[in-house]
Amino acid sequence: MTNALDELVAGLSQPQKMISPKYFYDEAGSQLFEQITELPEYYLTDAELEIMRTHVDDMAALIGKQASLIEYGSGSSLKTRILLEHLDAIAAYVPVDISEEHLYASAQKIRHEFPDLAVHPVVADFTTPFALPTPAVMPVKNVVYFPGSTIGNFEHDAAVELLRVMHGEAGKRGALLIGVDLQKDPAIIDRAYNDSEGVTAAFNLNVLRHLNASHSADFDVDAFEHRAEYDEDKGRVVLELVSQKDQTFAIDATEFDIADGETILTEYSHKYTLEGFARMAHDAGFEVERVWMDPDELFSVQYCTRS
Ligand code: TRP
Repeated sequence: MTNALDELVAGLSQPQKMISPKYFYDEAGSQLFEQITELPEYYLTDAELEIMRTHVDDMAALIGKQASLIEYGSGSSLKTRILLEHLDAIAAYVPVDISEEHLYASAQKIRHEFPDLAVHPVVADFTTPFALPTPAVMPVKNVVYFPGSTIGNFEHDAAVELLRVMHGEAGKRGALLIGVDLQKDPAIIDRAYNDSEGVTAAFNLNVLRHLNASHSADFDVDAFEHRAEYDEDKGRVVLELVSQKDQTFAIDATEFDIADGETILTEYSHKYTLEGFARMAHDAGFEVERVWMDPDELFSVQYCTRS
């Protein structure tokens, strides 16, 4: 395994410079993202919550009794709580996250709110297979929960690969409950990633501050600007930082030149058609069994079983 510095240097040495989105989420970044989810323009969170509130009984009926809910992510969201409140005799709740601190803190909160629930947090990089804990009550089935359309932050092949890992974790009778953001009027998407208060810009730029503070970088943060553009053909938002002049920066001992107008790619956010997501799920061994949407059809939550 290469270390973080090698990985950063490798990404910034590509013809299209890039920084992995995982560097967004230091303390400040996590707070800024929290603020993003509260912006009126960021429709994703509101739409997904509305879907959960409206259709959770339906979801619980499909999931059935005594399932083990395996969440990809730390499980700190309101969506998770809505689900946990409605599931019938749940065998275990297994949040899986790479950040141990964050994971254990939110697991403690969940235990406090649901004293009868068996909570088994697993520290793991969920993009590769990991071992599941053995709960005291034998689960009838495993249901992988992946909210927030985080799947959209993976490029096509990596997304299929991740769905395959979930397919494996779900096991024979298992299922997947996943949040999937949908293609829509580009103006709506554009506003969600270019809010008027500049929170999104601050979030994107914070990645440079984070690298300066803890990864031996020396970015001149004021000499970069946030850019988010929706590529309608590819169905994805391209999130970048644009250099405002010819300049150099360094990661540890390695120096880089960046030209005026040149970009550093920080994230893709893919938006899907129902057919497009169904095809991807199918390639990973899943069949989409149910799709719930908000009334404006901005966002979807989908229940997939193993085909
Ligand atoms: N995962 C979020 C998304 O795709 C991340 C995000 C929201 C983001 N706004 C951003 C990333 C702005 C970079 C810049 O919706």
